[in-house]
Amino acid sequence: MRKEVVLITGANGEIGHGLIKHLASQGDTRILALDVMPLDESLRPLCQTFIQGDILDTMLLGRLVAEYEIRTIYHLASILSTKAEYQPETAHRVNVEGTLNLLRLAVEQSQWQGRQVRFLYPSSIAAYGLPDLNTKMLAGKVKENDWLQPTTMYGCNKLYCEHLGRYYSLYYRQLAVDCETHTIDFRGIRFPGLISADTVPTGGTSDYGPEMLHHAATGEPYACFVRPDTQLPFMAMPDAVKALLQLEQAPRESLTQLVYNVTSFSLTAKQIHEIVKKAFPEAQITFKPHLCRQAIVDSWPADIDDTAARNDWGWSPDYDLERAFEEYLIPSIRKRYTVPSH
Ligand code: SER
Repeated sequence: MRKEVVLITGANGEIGHGLIKHLASQGDTRILALDVMPLDESLRPLCQTFIQGDILDTMLLGRLVAEYEIRTIYHLASILSTKAEYQPETAHRVNVEGTLNLLRLAVEQSQWQGRQVRFLYPSSIAAYGLPDLNTKMLAGKVKENDWLQPTTMYGCNKLYCEHLGRYYSLYYRQLAVDCETHTIDFRGIRFPGLISADTVPTGGTSDYGPEMLHHAATGEPYACFVRPDTQLPFMAMPDAVKALLQLEQAPRESLTQLVYNVTSFSLTAKQIHEIVKKAFPEAQITFKPHLCRQAIVDSWPADIDDTAARNDWGWSPDYDLERAFEEYLIPSIRKRYTVPSH
């Protein structure tokens, strides 16, 4: 008998941390965690199994098919937008070939199980590409099918993998006689910038938000790499986890599309600075825009429209701007960096 599990790739990343803690707290989910890096000690007892390995290792993935019955895959592993620009071809391999390997694994699992494996795929606002700042400011809340001309390798990879998800869900081997039985149930979410109290992001371009906050809490000086007027949508990590779990649970019949925007609040770097400064008056924050990273953020929407997610699967964030900072981020980050007194 193969063991029934939920597979999480990129388990040691930011979303992985939040997702594993949440799934483990529900008690009845057995987690098979995969990451190219070692898994944080705190997460290990929460997982049934952890495998340190690469999603490009097809032998490893083959062994997983043989050993486990995987009912849902959360494919979180990815090289983010800034890091991807330093090694675009490597990023393409990890982000696209890696995803293809996981989609292939999901198809094999679906065949074995005689039911569609659910494939949860975090996509991103990086899938969008607005041509200039003026267009960005005039575009307002961007809908799923608008402005899909990404300027980064990461954005191109995310958008293309959404297409692959649609192909594997609806058209995989469409000329085969028994093609019906080979499909998977792909569900994509385009996340805004995510801010977690527990982890600091690495390699993203929306990182200035969380970085400002974490640096302020530790008392380290921080030079923000975008202009104060730069605006992006953001979300607190517990809401990102909630969105993934809620979409996973949604009945297929209620879903009218394969990829959904979700968001919570949209604000400028200046507004983040003001909130952070109020909570940590000693914070030493300056603005030193990095022209190329600025250009990437300028091509991403100032806000996104998540009406479809709200209508189809009842999406609604728990943390608006005020709650996110006042009740989640600031208290948790304060606690995280406070040295216990003896
Ligand atoms: N947070 C990601 C990045 O900055 C966007 O999805 O790359």
